[in-house]
Amino acid sequence: MKTPNETGMNRTGIKTSPIDSRATEAGAEEGEPTSIGGESLMAAVRLELAQQADAVGSMPPPASLKGVAKSAMTVLKGESPTLLLNLLGERLAFERTGVRLYEAVIDKLPAFAADGGSARPTVADLRAIQEDELRHVDVVRRAIETLGGDPTAMTPAADLGGVSMSGVLQVACDPRAQLADSLHALLTAELVDNDGWELLIQLARGLGQEEIAQSFAQARDQEHLHLVRIRAWVMSQVMREAGVEESATLPAAT
Ligand SMILES: [Fe+2]
Repeated sequence: MKTPNETGMNRTGIKTSPIDSRATEAGAEEGEPTSIGGESLMAAVRLELAQQADAVGSMPPPASLKGVAKSAMTVLKGESPTLLLNLLGERLAFERTGVRLYEAVIDKLPAFAADGGSARPTVADLRAIQEDELRHVDVVRRAIETLGGDPTAMTPAADLGGVSMSGVLQVACDPRAQLADSLHALLTAELVDNDGWELLIQLARGLGQEEIAQSFAQARDQEHLHLVRIRAWVMSQVMREAGVEESATLPAAT
């Protein structure tokens, strides 16, 4: 299999043709913008649109009488009853996407059988992490139901989170993305995932939802382990391809 680090027909760099590069530089200096205005006008338009724009979607009303009662109580206490539910919806969608993300890399893994290294993941390694992500979907679902919410609702934060993750999913599913590329996509997801759980624990605790905060502690610890492992595999793959000693560069597992 051809690796992306082999030289090929890539002619995107200016040094590919010194003669043409001079013409390109001259053209760039002589060229005029294709539309009026500059950066300041663009900034003004962005600001104006941001000031006028509606939010991305809205939260659904409480799904049960219990949810209505909880909402009323939190409003009386001056708290936003839906903020936690919005972020829980985002976490649920993220974990669900995580399951599919790992599935995509697991499916491709046999294609990278030649990419050895002492610390490359096996199917069993990735499957174990994937099963954690699936369990986390259920942990969040229970928390949403405890608060009287509807776990099947697409919350605004879930919507935006899905857009954020779309590029990561594209890399994971791209048949041309190599093992290191695919692991890097997983690393991007795990970094966000780790912060997502920590934020939820802090928020739940701050809102007096101690039981929910405690139910998230195990997921947070598991996500930390995912991050350590994926980070080590990314490092191993890159160092191995570069011919650098792996053992000197791998971070210690916790
Ligand atoms: Fe994870």
